[in-house]
Amino acid sequence: MTGKAFSIAVIPGDGIGQEVIPAGLQVLDRLAERSRGALAFTYESFPWGCEYYLKTGRMMDEDGLERLSGFHAIYFGAVGWPRVPDHVSLWGLRLAICQGFDQYACIRPVQLLPGIASPLRNATPDSMDWVVVRENSEGEYAGVGGRNFAGREGDREVAVQSALFTRQGCERIIRYAFELARTRPRRKVTSVTKSNAQQYGMTLWDDVFASVATEFPDVSTEQFLVDAMAARFVLRPDTLDVVVGSNLFGDILSDLGSALAGSMGIAASANIDPLRRHPSMFEPVHGSSPDIAGQGIASPIAAIWSAALMLEHLGLAGEAEDVMTAIGKATGNGVTTPDLGGTATTEEVTTEILSHL
Ligand code: NAI
Ligand code: MG
Repeated sequence: MTGKAFSIAVIPGDGIGQEVIPAGLQVLDRLAERSRGALAFTYESFPWGCEYYLKTGRMMDEDGLERLSGFHAIYFGAVGWPRVPDHVSLWGLRLAICQGFDQYACIRPVQLLPGIASPLRNATPDSMDWVVVRENSEGEYAGVGGRNFAGREGDREVAVQSALFTRQGCERIIRYAFELARTRPRRKVTSVTKSNAQQYGMTLWDDVFASVATEFPDVSTEQFLVDAMAARFVLRPDTLDVVVGSNLFGDILSDLGSALAGSMGIAASANIDPLRRHPSMFEPVHGSSPDIAGQGIASPIAAIWSAALMLEHLGLAGEAEDVMTAIGKATGNGVTTPDLGGTATTEEVTTEILSHL
């Protein structure tokens, strides 16, 4: 074959990760098939996750990062299961990869898809179209802190959890947000902090934001406190374009955005190393959903949309757009899972999306 070939590391993980990742792979396979040899994907699947942990005591192999480093991209499902503490599963796999590979830009688009009803009465696909850019390497998830210093136990127990903000860390994510805004029609960046209460790290962020903004006179800017921003997501979604925030704030706001766009079942994300030193990782925003796992009713849209983000990152923008159009046709035809108000199964939604490719 003479076309482009991409090697993808696949980590379905736990719960519905095992159900939605195969749906995304079917979409990639369809694209390869219809390209008649111009495009190919090869996969290697890794069994890492909570079951693996219960068997081996590790969420992923010790040389996990090394083994992942040769792939063009990582396609990830979800981690977390009731028998393993969530901080163990998250740090042992997802954060180990994001932080180990310095995938410092987490990109989470929020878009109201055709046919989907938002819980917001007046939302339309035009009024709800933003991207949350989440700092993904430091901030509140830097893992700095400790518990039980110097034998303070029992009712004297203490814990410290610090947030780490560096000038370089702030600068690179804020610059990424501005560059992204330049590619979008509205050309606007809204920065979210809580610098009235968190007067060190978040004022550093604010200073860096003001300084980077001067390099982008063609992009309009705003700064908001996170509590006010939560209200604004609900009350004035039409005024948002690119929203940039710290690790924690981006995490929370992107879940809110997904819910406003209809369900966690559609929310996609990309963990990107913009410098391309390491593979980037693409995953639905949602978790392993023990409440619906094994029933075949998880929405595959979040995983398939994440695959579209992966295609875009691999330089396949046309294919990514085709996948988004196919998703929109499926939702427009009312073929959705129960979380989105429909009655279709994971498989039926996937088949419908494939039929538009
Ligand atoms: P969750 O995202 O798994 O589920 C929240 C709610 O949304 C549930 O009611 C679920 O049924 C629904 N939902 C999520 N995705 C859906 C889909 N594709 N289709 C239909 N409905 C969907 O979050 P939860 O319940 O807080 O966490 C479950 C586990 O997942 C925990 O162990 C948590 O630590 C882990 N988790 C892992 C993440 C990751 O791997 N990136 C992200 C979030 C949570
Ligand atoms: Mg989250």
